[in-house]
Amino acid sequence: MNAYDTYNYDVLVIGAGGAGLRAAIEASAHGVTVGLVCKSLLGKAHTVMAEGGIAAAMANVDDRDSWKVHFTDTLRGGQYLNNWRMAELHAKEAPDCVRELESWGALFDRTKDGKILQRNFGGHKYPRLAHVGDRTGLEMIRTLQDHGIHQGVEVHMECTVITLLKDGERIVGAFGYERERGRFKTFQAKAVILATGGVGRAYKITSNSWEYTGDGHSLAYHAGAELIDMEFLQFHPTGMIWPPSVSGILVTEGVRGEGGILLNKNGERFMFNNIPDLYKNQTSDNEEEGWRYIQGDKNAKRPPELLTRDHVARCIVREIKEGRGSPHGGVYLDISWIKKKISNSEEHIRKKLPGMYHMFKKLADIDITKEPMEIGPTTHYMMGGIRVDPDTQMSTMPGLFAAGECGAGLHGANRLGGNSLSDLLVFGKRAGEYAAKFAKEYGDGTIDEKQITDAAKWALEPFERDKGDSPYDIQFALQEMMQQLVGIVRNETEMLRAKEHLGLMSQRAANARVVGNREFNPGWHTALDLFNMLTISEAITMAALERKESRGAHFREDYPDKDPQSGKFNLVIKKDADGKMIIRQEPIPEIREELKQLIEEMK
Ligand code: FUM
Repeated sequence: MNAYDTYNYDVLVIGAGGAGLRAAIEASAHGVTVGLVCKSLLGKAHTVMAEGGIAAAMANVDDRDSWKVHFTDTLRGGQYLNNWRMAELHAKEAPDCVRELESWGALFDRTKDGKILQRNFGGHKYPRLAHVGDRTGLEMIRTLQDHGIHQGVEVHMECTVITLLKDGERIVGAFGYERERGRFKTFQAKAVILATGGVGRAYKITSNSWEYTGDGHSLAYHAGAELIDMEFLQFHPTGMIWPPSVSGILVTEGVRGEGGILLNKNGERFMFNNIPDLYKNQTSDNEEEGWRYIQGDKNAKRPPELLTRDHVARCIVREIKEGRGSPHGGVYLDISWIKKKISNSEEHIRKKLPGMYHMFKKLADIDITKEPMEIGPTTHYMMGGIRVDPDTQMSTMPGLFAAGECGAGLHGANRLGGNSLSDLLVFGKRAGEYAAKFAKEYGDGTIDEKQITDAAKWALEPFERDKGDSPYDIQFALQEMMQQLVGIVRNETEMLRAKEHLGLMSQRAANARVVGNREFNPGWHTALDLFNMLTISEAITMAALERKESRGAHFREDYPDKDPQSGKFNLVIKKDADGKMIIRQEPIPEIREELKQLIEEMK
């Protein structure tokens, strides 16, 4: 039907991290043909950066845990902006998803009596994270990949999608290019699932690698789907800061889950100074009691290092800003201190945190069993994204589904650590199931070829210009600007400046020039990625300006408090008929009565 290689599937999955793989497996299990497109090599995904574990109320370590506690923890962590139905499904279904993963061959650390071991993490009331050392995400990807390739899923590696294809308002395929040769590919599908992950590359300091340029968010938005909660971007409190070449690489929350403490340059445990009211009854400012909690004492309260990520990141920023930071502009994370508490501490740390031990040894020449790490916040996870139906994961466009980080709703204003891995299992599975059902119910759509020729023409324009900025220069400027002006601490003046910069950068990006040819040309790839990065940066800035309060990961120094009225709505973003980004407030759906009561009881 067109000049390019064309592939036909019932279900096309775009993105091959945990959510994409899980969705592909499920769709295939429902008897439909599945194509899986990944921007990178199969198995290379941000999922591996969720190192510390999968949150699931299996109650293996503390029998007081249940889906109900997990549900209320998730809502409290998300400051009650979460989609309650997604939080309910997630808490109820996560344990079975973990057991299923185990039945497919995933390895886990074990309790003494052979159950899957679970560890503490920020904001989770009980030890809840099923894990294998500090490599849980990697084990999950390995397992899903092994399982998926035996299901007959057809994989297109190193392929970037640049537009979704439509039949009226229905999504019926995608169009992209293979990175190695630069050739275009058309994918025709009865249903499409986006599982492209996050947006971290729009920022200078991030745990995300080069693939995470907000592709799914932007593809969906430009196709006409709605985005929600884009103001809520998670800065993980602990990323490496030194040496500069590794700045932003994730230091797992598992370090704090195993007893790691945060110290400023004066050796003060500054987290003791600021325990939010919401968590006062669960958190201790006593070193001894915190350690007992880590050791599994059911009567002890958690140490403040295990408060939610938004809060911990802000406390770190405060220490740095007020001059109590470390030499390279961070603070200290110390796990070696546990030598005061246990005799075999060095062996214990190497066993529990093997990845961290090797990472610091190799990259920073630090032995974490003996000395503290220098860390600082790093852009990690986008809570906002494509608006989906909580049960089916279908977006506001028929035939378009989303799962994992690019879908939104579960996490509200702030995600709890470990809830990402369970999110992508629970909702990857659901997206696969309902996309397969949709594909069976609706036949093939029709693709007007003009969509394809227009997209191909647009993609090749940067080669045709004989002047224009380098896409790398624009990307660096964008990352620097978003980090400075729409970062952890925000205010109106700076964000208005960001808006202006974004306008100018969009013009520069639309006139960017690339040299060379289409065969593996990263400059060209960056020129195309820029379109997505600018789209999502505009969405983040617009939503952050509109939310005039501080809540979860969104902190405004000009509106430092929570506003009860603002806590009643989500922000929804959509492209209007003139191609302009518009934003509106929408009331949070009324929660089911019995869940409301549950929240009251748990308080
Ligand atoms: O710190 C971590 O291991 C990250 C986990 C997550 O983002 O869920």
